[in-house]
Amino acid sequence: MNKLSYKKILSKKNKMPITCLTAYSKPIAKILDGEVDLILIGDSLGTTVYGMKNTRGVTLDMMKNHGKAVVKNAKSSMTIVDMPYNTYRNKKEALKNAQELISSTKADFLKIETDKKNIEIVKYLSENKIRVVSHIGVTPQKFSDFRKIKSVGKNTSDAKKLLSLASELERAGSKLIVLECINETVAKKITNILSIPTIGIGSSKFCDGQVLVIDDILNFNSNTKKPKFIKNFTNVEKSISKAVNIFVKSVKNKKFPLKKHSYR
Ligand code: KIV
Repeated sequence: MNKLSYKKILSKKNKMPITCLTAYSKPIAKILDGEVDLILIGDSLGTTVYGMKNTRGVTLDMMKNHGKAVVKNAKSSMTIVDMPYNTYRNKKEALKNAQELISSTKADFLKIETDKKNIEIVKYLSENKIRVVSHIGVTPQKFSDFRKIKSVGKNTSDAKKLLSLASELERAGSKLIVLECINETVAKKITNILSIPTIGIGSSKFCDGQVLVIDDILNFNSNTKKPKFIKNFTNVEKSISKAVNIFVKSVKNKKFPLKKHSYR
């Protein structure tokens, strides 16, 4: 299968929903490749892979390592790698780290959590040939406790600010924009006024595409309270528990390994 291009993704706007899921490892990248348009190596790996309380402890090295593993195995889907917390506090720092992350992972896009204060950074990275995905609305790096996350854009003043931020980010050169937990009416308006695609997470069906964290659709961590925008599409935790249980029983009953599993 041929590698998807940005032009192709752009052409889906107003025509066909764009799909995106996160991946942090080779096996998941191989499963997603060619199925979804975009694979995101998200800094959500801090919580999903490393068991951190939030994403603030994620380092550039973690993103490089997981990014490399995923991008190498994404032959057809396009890839986005996240810039971790405190790696883009000013233009100079952002460009140095962005170039390092892109050159070591070879990801197609770089995502940064954006607000009014760092539009200049998006512009600077774009001018320096980095394909930037902006992330607005609820931006997880601002939260030390995810349970405090609330949707945004309900009142008129917030809605206006989000609309103007989205437009400014497009003008600054963003190639795509992630809308997280944004009120449905506002997400729809942003999607309509921008010519770049919007990818929603908890921001309604009116976005040009949808992204979710892979662990959530697989129903890992089933006993933790999840935001209402998450849907479990299967229960992998259950299948893994079943396999582990059978393995333990088989070893204890001396049913595994058999002769065919042994070297003689
Ligand atoms: O890090 C991540 O996985 C993300 C998604 C939640 C959009 O930013």
